[in-house]
Amino acid sequence: MSDFLSARRTRIAAALQLEDAILLVGAGGPVPLPENSDQQYPFRSHAEYFYLAGAECAGGVVTFDPHEGEGWTSFVPAVTEGERVWEGREQLPGTPLAALEPWVHQRRGRPVVMLGAPRPGGPADDEVTRLVCARLTHARRPKDAHEIALIRRAAAATAPGYAKLRGWLRAGVTERALQIELEVEFARHGATRPGYGTIIGTGPNSAILHFEPSGRAAREGEFVLVDAGAEIDRYMADVTRTYVVGTPSAFQRDLYQVVLAAEERAIARCVPGAEWKQIHLAAAVEMVSGLVDLGVMHGAPETLVEQEAHTLFFPHGLGHMVGLGVRDGSGLQPGRAKDPRPCLRTLRMDLPLAPDYVVTIEPGIYFIPALLNDPARRARYRDAVNWPLVEQHLHLGGVRIEDNVLVTTGAPEVLTRAIPKALD
Ligand code: GLY
Ligand code: MN
Ligand code: MN
Repeated sequence: MSDFLSARRTRIAAALQLEDAILLVGAGGPVPLPENSDQQYPFRSHAEYFYLAGAECAGGVVTFDPHEGEGWTSFVPAVTEGERVWEGREQLPGTPLAALEPWVHQRRGRPVVMLGAPRPGGPADDEVTRLVCARLTHARRPKDAHEIALIRRAAAATAPGYAKLRGWLRAGVTERALQIELEVEFARHGATRPGYGTIIGTGPNSAILHFEPSGRAAREGEFVLVDAGAEIDRYMADVTRTYVVGTPSAFQRDLYQVVLAAEERAIARCVPGAEWKQIHLAAAVEMVSGLVDLGVMHGAPETLVEQEAHTLFFPHGLGHMVGLGVRDGSGLQPGRAKDPRPCLRTLRMDLPLAPDYVVTIEPGIYFIPALLNDPARRARYRDAVNWPLVEQHLHLGGVRIEDNVLVTTGAPEVLTRAIPKALD
């Protein structure tokens, strides 16, 4: 076993505080395509399994018994003849999966914690499992050196994709054509695949937060929002850039500057001990302040944020953790309850930052007809918004800028800094 995996397991074993409980972490199984093709959806082991096993293995289970010296065992299924013939699979090293039930049986009577993908019918103590699951998530938050190296490689494979895409930005290019150029360039630079479904929206589509690229062609003067990242060995970057085709209008430039300034200030706040919720709310106040200056909103920025008026234009959280999955390790600090304020419903984390956390910072301002045409919101925020101006820009789309930031004991490091942030 590699040194990094062995060190990781030792650290995690201590963090989980299992006492008398035994731990089972399942990879999950392949899901067949619904077309009788003898093929499956691309398989990814559950992130908790991958983290502790260090490899993909459909059907695999990693176990830990705190009462035993080494403690960890990796159970792997026997490769079948069909898998050898159709998929060229080889037998993975480990203990045969058939030995798992006897392993569990020998320890009967002890609490069982089951993480990763649930095993059908597998025994689990729900209360203990919830507690240990939260401990594992928390222990996975500081990325180890192996993980940080992979995220750096994913960011390095992402940058040339954005560089290539810039050269393709012109009136008439479709969202789909941009996606193809971007993803091919990721792959040329070592990406295993895109880390998540690439998001590209032109014009009004740039205000749809997770827009799937379509055949729509960009027009002169429109926003183009691109949110995509390369993945290498299960670790990924998560990057957004917004451009304008041709020459931006003064309003587009101003809007972009408001988002960019909020992003850069939020990045600078990513230091150990900083509360994520406060970084989010400070970015909301700064963007509202920008919208007041642009004449889109009226009032005192802090008051408008207290009234949750910012959610009309900034309806999502400032970001999340990223690494082994696009929302890796996000959530609550152990012992905290979810903040009940409606405007924080979409905030993906509530915790203080710590060294080696990798987070995204992704503020955005959007003109989203589904929110801005809602009569209840129009009534509630009648005086907070310049509605005639909003009407003018209702189909303008939106701006989001997203970088990946490594929290250190010194200044935050922007892992995606090689991807230029320029509107045109
Ligand atoms: N790429 C999706 C997100 O930014 O969360
Ligand atoms: Mn993103
Ligand atoms: Mn993101």
